[in-house]
Amino acid sequence: MKWTRKNLYSQYGEWSADYLLTLQAQAAKSSFRPTYHIAPTSGLLNDPNGFSFFNNQWHLFYQSFPFGPVHGLKSWVHLVSDDLVDWRNLGTALTADTVHDSHGVYSGSATVIDEQLFLMYTGNVRDKNWVRHPFQNGAYLTTDNQLTKLAHPLIEQPKHVTDHFRDPQILKKDDTYFTLLGAQDAATKRGKISIFKSKNLTTWEDLGYLNFTQQDMGYMIECPNLVAIDGKPVLIFCPQGLNKNIINYNNIYPNTYLVGDTCQLEKGKFNSSHRLELLDHGFDIYASQAFNTPDGNAYLVSWLGLPEIDYPTDSENWAHCMSVVKKLTIRDDKLYQEPVAAIKNYREEHAVLHGSLDSRQRKVIVEKATLSYELELSFPKNQQGTLSLLNGPDSEGLKLHFSTSSAAFFEIDRKNCGQTFATTYGTKRRVSLQNNAPIKLHILVDHSTCEVFINDGELVFSQRIFPNNNDLQIVLASESEVIYNGDWWKISNTIH
Ligand code: FRU
Repeated sequence: MKWTRKNLYSQYGEWSADYLLTLQAQAAKSSFRPTYHIAPTSGLLNDPNGFSFFNNQWHLFYQSFPFGPVHGLKSWVHLVSDDLVDWRNLGTALTADTVHDSHGVYSGSATVIDEQLFLMYTGNVRDKNWVRHPFQNGAYLTTDNQLTKLAHPLIEQPKHVTDHFRDPQILKKDDTYFTLLGAQDAATKRGKISIFKSKNLTTWEDLGYLNFTQQDMGYMIECPNLVAIDGKPVLIFCPQGLNKNIINYNNIYPNTYLVGDTCQLEKGKFNSSHRLELLDHGFDIYASQAFNTPDGNAYLVSWLGLPEIDYPTDSENWAHCMSVVKKLTIRDDKLYQEPVAAIKNYREEHAVLHGSLDSRQRKVIVEKATLSYELELSFPKNQQGTLSLLNGPDSEGLKLHFSTSSAAFFEIDRKNCGQTFATTYGTKRRVSLQNNAPIKLHILVDHSTCEVFINDGELVFSQRIFPNNNDLQIVLASESEVIYNGDWWKISNTIH
């Protein structure tokens, strides 16, 4: 398919049903298709949207272009779940079918209002000269899944921002609604977070920009997201063009977070005595969305992919998937992210892993680990080695190097894991660890994804990988003496 402005932005009805079925069949039979991560039924998936709890179910939407692995005319696809792991796809919910979203239903959020789920999203509109006009729109979802868009936009582009003005997060505090928006300041062309407030959801007052840092946040902030975690306000966002002196990152764009001390949206203030941090140290995390449940917990889900990067499944006409849902906590002012506990209910086969290697030994610790599994492994202090996942006759696999001695570190190298891609941004990601301390790895592998949670989720590495089908071994190689303890489980299919 040659992608032109015309076919990228054609109405969905102009595509033939046969073409869509062919794409769906191609995606369904791909060996890279995950089985417990949400992936598009066809075409491209990007940001998570409208993550919420409503009508006794979890709701999640994703940015979708169903007709190819490209960023064309976007819609929202809707999924529901009882446990945040087993997801049922209800199909396309919001499409670009009004004058206020004619060139794409872009990202947004959801909150329960008067027993309906209120969705707030960016309507992307282009005029005849292809000038962009962003509108912030609303829609209601009833308990029987009927969706109605509001006739009028809630917020139009203020003069002080450019046309990069999108991704509303709607929040309710007492009897006031607030919206945070990703924005680019018109005068300086720098990335900002805009705030609006409303008492009635109809008229919105522009409160200017959120004051959360003195540092320059690049040229655009996408997907701002405020969440309360264990009593602290935490701001999660994607600063594009962030100077690497502020955070050292290697991905094309980082997804970052800032733990705050206090937040007064009314005054536009988010006070923090903390540093900006990377949400994830892996290769492929973006546009993360978190929300607070009625009981005060915080859950996060991310796009396991990045803008402007080619992925190997592009040749199969589909692209990207979601991360697992993670529960967020704060301990000692540090953010912890752990996969939701319900994943345990989908464990099938099990193997106990326990043993030791002398210095410079190599051992296959699981011979046929399958392509959808969970692995927990602990190593005591003063050890150095390499864990290779998806190792086999055709590839050395995904290498996880670690040292728990002095100069302790953890490093992922995906250079020799099946098909390589995005090598412009390097093939390794590394963090330093506390010296002379044990390490605990919790790893989720699912066909073309690998998420590594270190020390109960204190550090996370999330990435796509495109392994060969025969490379199913888990191999441990030691530099020093290595003692290991853990478990392996196969995980069953949870996406329907
Ligand atoms: C982030 C993003 C958002 C936008 C959406 C469009 O990945 O660029 O800013 O709303 O994707 O699909």
